Amino acid sequence: MSGQLILIIDCNSKNKHLTARSVRGMNVYCEVRPLSMQPEEIGSMNPIGMIFTGDADSVNDERFKTLSAKASERCIPVYTQFGETDMQRLKGFLFDTCGAAGDWTMQVFAKTGVESIRRQVGSGKVLLALSGGVDSSVVAALLSEAVGNRLSCIFVDHGLMRKNEGGEIEAVFRGRGLNLIRVDAESRFLKRLEGVTDPEQKRKIIGEEFIRVFEEEAKKIGKVDFLAQGTIYPDVIESGEDGQSVVKSHHNVGGLPDNLDFKELVEPLRMLFKDEVRALGAELGLPDYLVNRQPFPGPGLAVRIIGKITKEKLEILRDADAIFREEIANAKLDREISQYFAVLTNMRSVGASGGARTYDYTLALRGVTTTDFMAADWARIPWEVLEKASSRITAEVVRINRVVYDVTGKPPATIEWE
Ligand code: XMP
Repeated sequence: MSGQLILIIDCNSKNKHLTARSVRGMNVYCEVRPLSMQPEEIGSMNPIGMIFTGDADSVNDERFKTLSAKASERCIPVYTQFGETDMQRLKGFLFDTCGAAGDWTMQVFAKTGVESIRRQVGSGKVLLALSGGVDSSVVAALLSEAVGNRLSCIFVDHGLMRKNEGGEIEAVFRGRGLNLIRVDAESRFLKRLEGVTDPEQKRKIIGEEFIRVFEEEAKKIGKVDFLAQGTIYPDVIESGEDGQSVVKSHHNVGGLPDNLDFKELVEPLRMLFKDEVRALGAELGLPDYLVNRQPFPGPGLAVRIIGKITKEKLEILRDADAIFREEIANAKLDREISQYFAVLTNMRSVGASGGARTYDYTLALRGVTTTDFMAADWARIPWEVLEKASSRITAEVVRINRVVYDVTGKPPATIEWE
């Protein structure tokens, strides 16, 4: 790769992600930095060009003038949402003005990523908390290419995952040369969750128990030199920090133990956007269902069972959710709906089956479309798809005699029910 860099200087822009994505979309590598950046630092990074993003006022202020004086012929201000004209202007700037090669691809990144991990890690040992989500899975795949069995992955199976999920994750990573430790901790988690109904309490318990299990397993591995984590670029840009790293809160529920003894963090996805992480995962040979999976909350099905969690309820929900997901995939809607799942309500109602009266659970189906998960609309799933899912669920899953579809956006509702 040419190693060319475009610097995006953020002058309080709402569009900095968009600008960076547009540049990378043209296969040119770029990084976002704050306007407070020092000219010497810019010099040391040796960018082939700079883009200032912000509104007209912020891009014209004194700092902008100081920073852009030096390389004025290779600077461009970007003010607005990108239209076709802006894209053409940006393209002209990158390729004609700056002489960009346009050779930033995930194939190249995978190769240079492996090399830079090897440089950082040397002969050291690396530890990773593997959740089976996209980010930690791609980190595991990349690190295993780089350091093989000097990577240990602890996969805590809390028993709150979707149907077959634990086995699928294990199948993907066994045979990749890394040291995979799958901990079957279902009974521990269920015991601690017994009788708990409050959603935040559920999250707290799962977070704490996760830390305990992780700690116990990490102790068995002994001393490691590096802790790997799946920090991605939006986390870095959002936190406003561009140098220092912090241990990312795992599962957003409790974080990793803070007394882990390691020398340094390894964060090979720090500079990638989510879609680039997915592309990298595909490049590394991870299966499609893993790299393109929808978000799944760290506390898992615990926050999709309203009220008390029992093994029986978990089984009911797993079966129903699997059918719903299968029907969404059959209808080829799995890439169009941002998140879709089943929720086991705590409500029972009267039904009729085979001439007999039933008194069973109501299952709720939820599907949302969103770009950022901060706000969401309910997905307009075709009636036929809902009908198929509903008839299959009531016929194939015991203890469900009624299925409803959630037609509420966020706000006022949240995406999850708990
Ligand atoms: P809500 O329900 O807040 O969800 O609209 C927004 C997004 O966050 C996910 N979510 C979680 N993820 N731990 C997680 O790792 C959690 O406790 C949690 N709660 C919600 C949710 O699935 C959706 O994508």
